[in-house]
Amino acid sequence: MKQLNSTALKVDQDRISILDQTRLPNQEIWLEIPDPDAMVGAIRRLSVRGAPLISIAACVSLALHAAKIESEGVSGDEFAINIRETAERLRESRPTAVNLMLALDRMVFRVAPESLSTAHLIATAERIFEDDLALCEAIATHGQQVIEDGDAILTHCNTGGLGTTGIGTAIGVIRKAHELGKRIHVYVDETRPLLQGGRLTTWELDRAGVPYTLICDNMAAGLMRDGKIQRAIVGADRVALNGDFANKTGTYSVAVLCDYHRVPFYCAAPFTTVDPECANGDTIPIELRDGDEVRGFAGTGLVWSPAECQVYNPAFDVTPGKLLTGLILDSGYYPSDAIEAGALTELFAPG
Ligand code: MRU
Repeated sequence: MKQLNSTALKVDQDRISILDQTRLPNQEIWLEIPDPDAMVGAIRRLSVRGAPLISIAACVSLALHAAKIESEGVSGDEFAINIRETAERLRESRPTAVNLMLALDRMVFRVAPESLSTAHLIATAERIFEDDLALCEAIATHGQQVIEDGDAILTHCNTGGLGTTGIGTAIGVIRKAHELGKRIHVYVDETRPLLQGGRLTTWELDRAGVPYTLICDNMAAGLMRDGKIQRAIVGADRVALNGDFANKTGTYSVAVLCDYHRVPFYCAAPFTTVDPECANGDTIPIELRDGDEVRGFAGTGLVWSPAECQVYNPAFDVTPGKLLTGLILDSGYYPSDAIEAGALTELFAPG
């Protein structure tokens, strides 16, 4: 496979490395991921994360696995069965991000058995990796129409180069605004329970030189009441055709706060995050995660609640499309009334 480089995923011939996002910002450790089952583990524990990036990481891992088993003499039906079963395990690693399912459909599940070859898998994985760069650029460009000089912008979770192979989705819009000389300031929700805002978005904004202030998730309301936030931009893990979308848990609270305080609220995503088979948010599967992530800071031994207390830990929540001011896609900006009138259904109509 050709050499591919991004902020958190690198491919060098037959080796895949990821920047372990569970260790950021204190340690920048690259992990080699030897096979798809190791990739499933890395996706589950969020060493690699963000809807676009997990789909790309899964695809490159599957493509290199195909090359390996082919070199070991696996062919014909045995090859096809192995690839489908491996793709199935990757597909199940995170259930909400539709990018993962759509990318594996493109690689395997919507491919005629006779076309399922190592050459197809490698070429498709390379294209998916490289396309994401361009999708991020297009989102960042379209997003400029909603950002004004002097804006303070709230964001939730991490939607930058750590979650894509480009400059990101919501963070891409923000970075581009900064690069264009707009004097913006970002309020970063820490994003309980795994602190993707506090650990990852801060790390990225530091590196990009974008001014920001870190807040606890429960501080946004006060800032909005005081008129300190002009707009909010978030990403998505799955967008339904009516504009409902799943994103990191807490996004719905941000949307409700924006609605109450009349703060424009936007979602930025590539077309690979839109689920053409999902009419509304009711059918989006939501991943429930381990209670230890809420009882303390998982993986560190730091626990602040009774060890066995009952916990509810959905990784994502669904925000109703009617709370959106607009959706920023790689194909353009869609105000909520256009979405209500069926813009996404039209855009994703088969054929
Ligand atoms: O659980 P995570 O950290 O993978 O959740 C990530 C998000 O919710 C992002 O907003 C989304 O995947 C978009 S990343 C460009």
